[in-house]
Amino acid sequence: MKDVMIVTGAGQISMAIARRVGFGKKIILGDKKIENANAIAKIMNEAGFDVEPVEMDLSSRESILALIAKAKEYGEIKYLVNGAGVSPSQAPVEAILKVDLYGTAVLLEEVGKVIANGGVGVTISSQSGWRMPQLTAEQDRQLATTPTEELLSLDILRPENIENTLHAYQMAKRCNEKRVMAESVKWGERGARLNDIAPGIIVTPLAIDEFNGPRGDFYKNMFAKCPAGRPGTADEVANVAELLMSERGAFITGSTFLIDGGATASYFYGPLQPKE
Ligand SMILES: NC(=O)c1ccc[n+]([C@@H]2O[C@H](COP(=O)([O-])OP(=O)(O)OC[C@H]3O[C@@H](n4cnc5c(N)ncnc54)[C@H](O)[C@@H]3O)[C@@H](O)[C@H]2O)c1
Repeated sequence: MKDVMIVTGAGQISMAIARRVGFGKKIILGDKKIENANAIAKIMNEAGFDVEPVEMDLSSRESILALIAKAKEYGEIKYLVNGAGVSPSQAPVEAILKVDLYGTAVLLEEVGKVIANGGVGVTISSQSGWRMPQLTAEQDRQLATTPTEELLSLDILRPENIENTLHAYQMAKRCNEKRVMAESVKWGERGARLNDIAPGIIVTPLAIDEFNGPRGDFYKNMFAKCPAGRPGTADEVANVAELLMSERGAFITGSTFLIDGGATASYFYGPLQPKE
């Protein structure tokens, strides 16, 4: 029987990771847009992978449970790659919080209840979460440990306290990091590991929407002035995921890995520092 791997988000980052670590595994690929899942499944199946596309909505617990049930038809779930998400130019505040923040939290919780011994998961946050000022220790704890169904009622996430879609996205991605820390403790009790990758600008349809969106110049300036001087590729994100999901990553869990060509470093201490 093949090991079973759940992948959410039929985008470039998910596909790069699935291609890197998914050969020989049964891959259940969920996306809200079934045409995206079908397209990636076709590319991968024609390259020798075993991918089953499934329509699913990360913002719905019911839909997440249905995806997990589908995956379990093929055996115990051993791997999770969560690359589904919406960006600040693609969706309103409410949708960003529901998908990127709440949905990710529910997915990590529900997969964490059934993940196999020796299993491993990776979720994708963003460098964006690293730019906000520090939250208080209490706010961090709330994001990490508040029961999933109460998360969106937290004061810090109430509509009047969220300035715009970028702020919503940053809070969601910060929450992803904190959830991974808290969930990794539970995953560890099952002999499984869970980590997070925070990419910088990676060329994908989502990033291209940003380049052409209201913050396009900001993004182009960001990669021009970061130490790497360019955006990254999904395959470079897969390099990190490969380490995290292999035996070589056996001592790594509950962590977030920034892979941004140094954009965050430049934002704090280099030419990308915001002007006073
Ligand atoms: N591309 C970048 O520059 C970049 C940078 C930092 C973080 N990220 C993060 O990486 C992740 C993947 O992004 P990508 O660049 O591969 O994007 P992408 O646009 O290539 O893929 C995202 C996929 O998620 C799907 N999706 C959206 N809402 C969904 C929902 N509610 N349920 C299920 N599927 C849904 C979309 O249909 C799409 O197929 C996202 O979480 C994004 O925030 C991307």
